[in-house]
Amino acid sequence: TRTRVAVVGGGPAGLMLSHLLHLGGIESVVLDHRTHEEIRTTHRAGILERDAVRLLVDSGVDRVLTDGDRHGGIYLRFGGENHHVDFEQAVGASVWLYPQTEVFLDLHEARTRDGGDLRYGVADVEVHDALGRPRVTFTDVDGAAAEVVADVIVGADGSRSACRALVDPREQFLRTYPFAWFGFMTQAPRSADELVYTRSEHGFALISQRTETVQRMYFQCDADEDPAAWSEDRIWTEMHARTAGHDDFELRTGPIIEKSVLPFRSFVQTPMRHGNLLLAGDAAHTVPPTGAKGLNLALADVRVLAEVLERALTKDDAAALDSYTDRALARVWKAQHFSYWMTTMLHRTADGSEFDERRQLGELEWLTSSEAGSAYLAEGYTGWPQR
Ligand code: DHB
Repeated sequence: TRTRVAVVGGGPAGLMLSHLLHLGGIESVVLDHRTHEEIRTTHRAGILERDAVRLLVDSGVDRVLTDGDRHGGIYLRFGGENHHVDFEQAVGASVWLYPQTEVFLDLHEARTRDGGDLRYGVADVEVHDALGRPRVTFTDVDGAAAEVVADVIVGADGSRSACRALVDPREQFLRTYPFAWFGFMTQAPRSADELVYTRSEHGFALISQRTETVQRMYFQCDADEDPAAWSEDRIWTEMHARTAGHDDFELRTGPIIEKSVLPFRSFVQTPMRHGNLLLAGDAAHTVPPTGAKGLNLALADVRVLAEVLERALTKDDAAALDSYTDRALARVWKAQHFSYWMTTMLHRTADGSEFDERRQLGELEWLTSSEAGSAYLAEGYTGWPQR
């Protein structure tokens, strides 16, 4: 097969790129070793920044507006009380609760409707000749050897990216954390109208939502925690301890229908381009989950990438690709700071001192009682204006 752009990775980032390229009149082929079913059923975060929603809606993918929930703020819970941060008031912006799995389904449907060439469940994917005429070889679903020859290859193949290793020379930046997140789904009503990010002496907890009857929650745990060791009783005891307080907040509980431990790290690889191979999303950078920046950052990459690819492939502006790494990384490092900052403000470490605890509380008091403090959080959470 011959195409303009071969996209390795058919998650939301790869599909959004293929969709935007299609709207710009550029054909692409999307490959993924995972099946549609595997991607559809992998729980990921649920918050879209203002401009991520705008990108979806402006490109004709607008189910988020009817099936998503607009959230004008969050609660920071500390000292046994909820403190509301109003994004609308602080920066005139909001976010949308709309799970990443729904974004995937919407984009998959748009690409299928528009006749997109999507190949899920392929094996042995390998990228060749990134510095010349690039191609991807793989084994198709029927077990036959296959090849896609393209002008450009995009690695949108996630945090365990194989494309990443082809960038040479490369620089990597990594920060690890001495904890992880335990995530679970529960059949319960909502506990609050917006998300509740909790800091307690027992560690961090987050109460997010999915529907009227299913909620998504997380709590800080050890990196080597075994989900099987956590019974329903044990999970709720832990959640109650962390969210206890003296206001009228009530944690709503129910049967737990899914549980897992999430990886937790900050990572950036640069440059994001090697000849005719370009990286997007988690393939080039990972953020810890606090603040839900991962998908938003991937969509921001893809928006810039679609624009430079359009210039390079339809306007003969080969130099357009040169600007990609710097433009993408400008936002990446802001999001890296934001995710790191929210993480360290709300989590406990085993070696944390009394000083650290009181300093954390001082920061939270400042954030929730000052206009400048609320604006700092609100601007990062709803997403910096796109350039
Ligand atoms: C969700 C996940 C996050 O990491 C976050 O900060 C907010 C919400 C979620 O899964 O809903």
